[in-house]
Amino acid sequence: MNYVLDRIYADVESLAATEFGQPNPEVRRPPKESEAIYAVPCFQYAKEKNTNPIKLADGLSAKWNQGLQAGSLIERFEPARGYVNVFVKKKTLLARILKNLRDFGEDYGNYPEINKTIVVDYCSPNIAKPLSVGHLRSTIIGQALINILRARGYRVVGINFLGDWGTQFGKLLYAFEQWGNEKKLAEEPIQHLLELYVRFHKKAKINPALEDDARAAFKRLQQGGEKERALWQRFRGSSLEAFEKTVARLGVKFDHNWFESEFEERARELVDELLAKGIAEESEGAIIIRFKPLWPAESPEPPPAQPPLVIRKSDGTTLYPTRDLASALERIERFQPVHRLLYAVASEQTLYFSQLWNALEEMRKRGFFKHAKINQPGILKYIPFGMVSLPTGKISTREGRIVYLDELLDEAERRAQEIIKEKNPDMPKDARAQVARKVGIGAVIYADLSQDRIKDIVFDWSKMLAFEGNSAPYLQYAAVRCARILAKASPEDRKRLEEPKDADIPRMVAEIEEPESIELLMHLGRFPQAIAEAAERYAPHALASYLYDLAAALSRFYTEVPVLKAQTDAARLARLTLVEATGRVLRRGLALLGIETPEEM
Ligand code: ARG
Repeated sequence: MNYVLDRIYADVESLAATEFGQPNPEVRRPPKESEAIYAVPCFQYAKEKNTNPIKLADGLSAKWNQGLQAGSLIERFEPARGYVNVFVKKKTLLARILKNLRDFGEDYGNYPEINKTIVVDYCSPNIAKPLSVGHLRSTIIGQALINILRARGYRVVGINFLGDWGTQFGKLLYAFEQWGNEKKLAEEPIQHLLELYVRFHKKAKINPALEDDARAAFKRLQQGGEKERALWQRFRGSSLEAFEKTVARLGVKFDHNWFESEFEERARELVDELLAKGIAEESEGAIIIRFKPLWPAESPEPPPAQPPLVIRKSDGTTLYPTRDLASALERIERFQPVHRLLYAVASEQTLYFSQLWNALEEMRKRGFFKHAKINQPGILKYIPFGMVSLPTGKISTREGRIVYLDELLDEAERRAQEIIKEKNPDMPKDARAQVARKVGIGAVIYADLSQDRIKDIVFDWSKMLAFEGNSAPYLQYAAVRCARILAKASPEDRKRLEEPKDADIPRMVAEIEEPESIELLMHLGRFPQAIAEAAERYAPHALASYLYDLAAALSRFYTEVPVLKAQTDAARLARLTLVEATGRVLRRGLALLGIETPEEM
């Protein structure tokens, strides 16, 4: 069983591949106004062959038309200024889409399993610090990618990589000894640890000797001091619990929580191995990896020239990058066969991740991945994203304006409550709170995912929560509307919808005549491809914009085409089928983005 548009695409691709003699020729979606389903650009090949692309497209169209078999879904090829446009048998295509929608049911959009693992590093906050808005974006984008890649068939492992190591823990240990409060640590761990951290820095400014005390405390922790370890364990435990509670509000549950400190030992060994293989070298007592300015052409993402990466300080201790490298190796070994390691981290860390990318690439070439089942260049895939700002400016803990994510999410829910109260005054209070949760949180998630992730986000509550325009409530409302229409259908109609027979399909297709109905069904047919595209480009936003277009197509359909009042039985069934499928795809698509759809709103 497969998706009809994927079939057509594959057929066109293989025709072009044979003709051009290359495995992955370009096949495009023509502009919206075109009736063609795909277009094959001939410019590249014409250039290679030193001929005119227009002539080439003419010749190819004629040749491919001749080769067409009677049973093919493709109706004809037509040249258009250097492109070969592909036209399909519309009614047959519509019937196949209906059949796909019926046969796949709730699984519509999912692909069969691919035996390749993608490991996604996301959220990944530092212990004893509040989650930042950057971590919010990482969590939202990471979770959406996890869902989308799973739907695409990959095996996906999500890892929350917690920063729990470094001299700052010496400061906290010291500060807690001095000013700590057991009760506060239990109740509000993050706030309390942050307070202690700030207090330490204030005091250390006046009395720099405190820094030595902190260093000594961290040393004791490193050496396994019982008291220090116990306290540090509690910092970790209570912080993690708080993080998990917050992200649960976004529907997120990590497959794994990995602590940076767990890679300390492996990191130390790794430094020696890197030295032995000549990847790392000594420099003023420290150990560094120096990057050559030019990298072999096999690298898919040539990075800019960059400073060396320090992996061991002159005092013999490892650093964050060393532990990151050790943890990357562990991911490759443990989750075989690993196709990619994704890191959803703010674009501020571009330089760091290009260093990691290079270091891993050099390691791969020197046999570090030799036991890995997949051994391809560029295993690390950095997923950067832009900054978030409130209308009043940048959100940053450094500037002292801390935004607690829980407060931000509370605010979203509170605003959603008010809007729903206004739109639907009769809804009981309990139900309203539930709906407000889905709408408010959904609005935050969608505001993030509806644009290219690399762009900065400006929080605009009213745009985010608007029922019109490109927002979560608009899409959720479209899905709710579908459910409302279905609820009004007669029991007989609903029964027929649930168990459509093969013979119903041609009858329904005959009734799908209006441009709005055709457009809606065609768009429904593209859902699997939207998922595939979002997966391939690691771009949840491709799926978001698909859903927005779907909601818009529904709204045009709904304005122009009567559903429950359709003239004939067959027409009513066809239109109800469209409504049911649209509701299903909207709900499923939103769920892939991490957004729940309320029953009512
Ligand atoms: N802990 C880092 C931060 O809060 C992000 C870690 C990202 N993941 C990684 N494996 N380096 O900025």
